[in-house]
Amino acid sequence: DNPASVKRQLAQLFDLSLRATVPDEPDVVPLIDACAVKGGVKFGDYQCNNAMGIWSKMKGKQTGFRGPPAIGQAIVNNLPPSEMIDSCSVAGPGFVNVVLSKKWIAESLQRMLIDGINSWAPRLPVKRALIDFSSPNIAKEMHVGHLRSTIIGDTLARMLEFSRVECVIRRNHVGDWGTQFGMLITNLFEKFPNPDDVSEADIGDLQAFYKASKVRFDSDPEFKLRAQQAVVRLQSGEIKYRKAWKQICDVSRAEFDKVYQRLGVQLEERGESFYNPYIPGVLEKLDNLGLIEESDGARVIYVEGVDIPLIAVKRDGGYNYFTTDLASLWYRLNEEKLEWIVYVTDIGQQQHFDMLFKAYRRAGWLPKDENAYPKCTHIGFGLVLGEDGKRFRTRSSEVVRLVDLLDEAKRRCKIAILERDTAKDWSEEEIEKTSEAIGYGAVKYADLKINRLTNYTFNFDQMLNDKGNTAVYLLYAHARICSIIRKSGKDIEEVKRNGKIVLDHEDERALGLHLLQFPEVYEEACTYLLPNFLCEYLYNLAEIFTKKFYANCQVYF
Ligand code: ARG
Repeated sequence: DNPASVKRQLAQLFDLSLRATVPDEPDVVPLIDACAVKGGVKFGDYQCNNAMGIWSKMKGKQTGFRGPPAIGQAIVNNLPPSEMIDSCSVAGPGFVNVVLSKKWIAESLQRMLIDGINSWAPRLPVKRALIDFSSPNIAKEMHVGHLRSTIIGDTLARMLEFSRVECVIRRNHVGDWGTQFGMLITNLFEKFPNPDDVSEADIGDLQAFYKASKVRFDSDPEFKLRAQQAVVRLQSGEIKYRKAWKQICDVSRAEFDKVYQRLGVQLEERGESFYNPYIPGVLEKLDNLGLIEESDGARVIYVEGVDIPLIAVKRDGGYNYFTTDLASLWYRLNEEKLEWIVYVTDIGQQQHFDMLFKAYRRAGWLPKDENAYPKCTHIGFGLVLGEDGKRFRTRSSEVVRLVDLLDEAKRRCKIAILERDTAKDWSEEEIEKTSEAIGYGAVKYADLKINRLTNYTFNFDQMLNDKGNTAVYLLYAHARICSIIRKSGKDIEEVKRNGKIVLDHEDERALGLHLLQFPEVYEEACTYLLPNFLCEYLYNLAEIFTKKFYANCQVYF
């Protein structure tokens, strides 16, 4: 029972017309699109693009049509009467342009308003979904790539919730089990022979601690040996090693949480270590199915269409990133009974996930049809670049600390707010809150507005520009709308129930039509899991509101 978008409703009408126009071509499905602006003008609100295709399909058959425009005209003539449509015209090679009725737009909008925004979302056929996102690595830096994953993942989780998936788990698959712990723990023991002496402040700067440990690891063979032994002792559960491991994880976690808190993102952590006990069982099952082969001393799995195998167990008997994902996916499907599992990482990991899913298909643990449920999806994204076109780094080519980056966005917003005359009327708290909303919002929106698959250049000036396609611009339009409502002195719920939407002015009509198009844009964003479709919709909405409606129309309550 998905809401009937304008597009869908038109498609139903045109389907009836097509059945009458080409009764012998049951495969012809209506091709309906919103009209684009060409050379500053729009020839209609929607168009039906079937005529050309029908013409080429029917060429050579006796049809009686003289060409695509005649087919277009026949499609118009065969349209059943409808309250939706004001007029139709045929243009160029048979495009049918549709102008919708103002009255119908107003009435549909009124219904949407009364039914509420939640009724606008298409339902997804899933009850339990998990988004695996953010997932930084303990003691290593949480970098801008993790920021992208966090922003995109959180947005996708909100989209699934909006589409009424009953249970959406936001999962932080933190890297808390890598071999890096060997050197970290060994270094920790060297500095603090008695683990009880370690306070969080001592390893507070984990990046520095990581670097120092790495230097020791690379330069001192004896240290390296102890570090390698430490990994084994940790993984076999020795108390002292476990304790040191936990200390390091706790410090890291506190750092990550600062970022999440600022972004308003909530995640449920279940690190790689959690799945360690499940690894042997899953490997055994795969082995019994005959999937595991020996290769050069390693235990590997070959998958369709990829030359190199997936390494399930390394030559030294150790597990890797792949092994953990083999086990975590098993857990997610069988213990957590998830129907849709979405992984959000940079595109660089595409092959990793492709191979993982293929191995699961080979085992018969995921359906052969990629679109069937239970389903796994990898959502990739491009790199974050600096002004110089290279990976985003600080001037001294260090990794940018995310907390610093968010602080900077906020700081710049605060300066802009304080420069305004109105700032003197604001309380300190209002200024703080507003700088955060705009600053953090700007960072999120700048990331979401471009197609996630492309690289994105980080630029504070651009993302904080109040006239461009930015969060500032959207928030400004929103604030204006709120102020209209406030100044009216009316109870908005009462207005919704008893007010009447009239779209007499052409700019009112444009705004009304755009609002009505939300469901179809949202549906597309959901189909491809591309939040940038929503951003574009919102930006156009803010523009129509600000430049047309707000400039030229009056509001009566
Ligand atoms: N920790 C990984 C990284 O920083 C991302 C983990 C993604 N999730 C997964 N299940 N592999 O790149």
